[in-house]
Amino acid sequence: MTSRSGGLEGVVAGTSAISSIDGLAGKLTYRGIDIFDLASDATFEEVAHLLWHDELPTQSQLDGLLNELSAAYALPPPVVDALRLVPQSTPPMDALRSGVSMLGAFDPDLGDNSLEANARKSVRLLAQVSAVVATFARLAAGNEPITSAEGPVADAFLQMYTGERPDETAARALDVLLVLQADHELNASTFAGRVIAATLSDMHSAVTGAIGALRGPLHGGANQGVMEMLIEIGSPDAAEDWVRERLARRELIMGFGHRVYKTADPRATILRGMSRELSRTSGHPEWFEISQVIERVMMDEKGIDSNVDFFSATVYAALGLPVNLFTPIFAMSRTSGWTAHVLEQLGDNRLIRPRAEYIGHTDRAYTPMAERG
Ligand code: SDX
Repeated sequence: MTSRSGGLEGVVAGTSAISSIDGLAGKLTYRGIDIFDLASDATFEEVAHLLWHDELPTQSQLDGLLNELSAAYALPPPVVDALRLVPQSTPPMDALRSGVSMLGAFDPDLGDNSLEANARKSVRLLAQVSAVVATFARLAAGNEPITSAEGPVADAFLQMYTGERPDETAARALDVLLVLQADHELNASTFAGRVIAATLSDMHSAVTGAIGALRGPLHGGANQGVMEMLIEIGSPDAAEDWVRERLARRELIMGFGHRVYKTADPRATILRGMSRELSRTSGHPEWFEISQVIERVMMDEKGIDSNVDFFSATVYAALGLPVNLFTPIFAMSRTSGWTAHVLEQLGDNRLIRPRAEYIGHTDRAYTPMAERG
């Protein structure tokens, strides 16, 4: 699919034992366990423990993690106060970037960059990122934040966002979304986080930088663009022409293509089934019907498969979540992967500093101001 160069395409920029992607076979594993098995059998907290510690947790380890998460959902009050100062119209990803940066100043392990301290920061951030997303969403809607919650991230997030305990189906669907988006090797945001960690900077700087990278529409920001596209298309009958017109203008269709997968993204395969079911049960079967037309046209015209962002959009929407929270929820999930990669980087660190092929001027003389045009 890719005909352009650059972007470090195909460059192996280091080693990692966390995720493995087979782009030709369309296979993804976390610490050697297949994503299909994890999506059907694991909870997000089990996956986070697996990413951090290379083992699925025992029951007592899982109980301990859930207790630590529950203790961390309540944000430091000055951070909530600071989020109140952020304009309500601010994109939630920008508020999240600022919120995570501020959390660094209030972290009890501030200034401690040891592996043990960063492991504690990882757990706190997994809870706090979901709390910042929910808190800013409520403030932006003119509502008071829900300052505490308990239990698994998916459940706690829905409690902090809606103010009610979620139903089992919604909490499990969100939990699967968090499992599927937890890690993905050296994607742009994870690579950004590792570059920052490799300077021996701190965990909050690494996660803040990763959030900045995920925000972009070529990366995690695509899921928001997918939903906006489905809403604009409106009906399955309008889908084919809508896509063809944009392809004719050489525009990108959000939710399609991938730098590594040259066949179906296994996460999209899992999410397609969830999208079909949840679009129907949420009363929006047209979302899935439109999606099917777009997939057919993209395959016929460009030979390009959908990626994780394509069907995650309709699953988020079917759960009643607003479009501008899709990428922040992706960030909630990917915080597990980002922090796991920071810990891995620090475990065997060397500064990440590639070279550039110089293509600029050479041998130029300095021109005094009086002689410049
Ligand atoms: C994620 O890396 C990861 O692992 C990311 C991720 C993760 O879990 O972390 O998987 C999550 O970010 C998924 C990707 C989400 N982004 C999008 O859906 C945005 C749309 N997709 C494209 O921007 C693109 O496919 C990329 C950025 C994802 C990958 O692009 P590449 O590898 O740089 O490929 P390219 O831009 O060179 O495209 C090759 C060809 C081009 O056509 P030609 O110029 O050769 O004619 O394919 C075309 C592109 O125009 N193409 C598309 C397209 N994607 C590629 N054409 C229309 N729509 C698209 N979406």
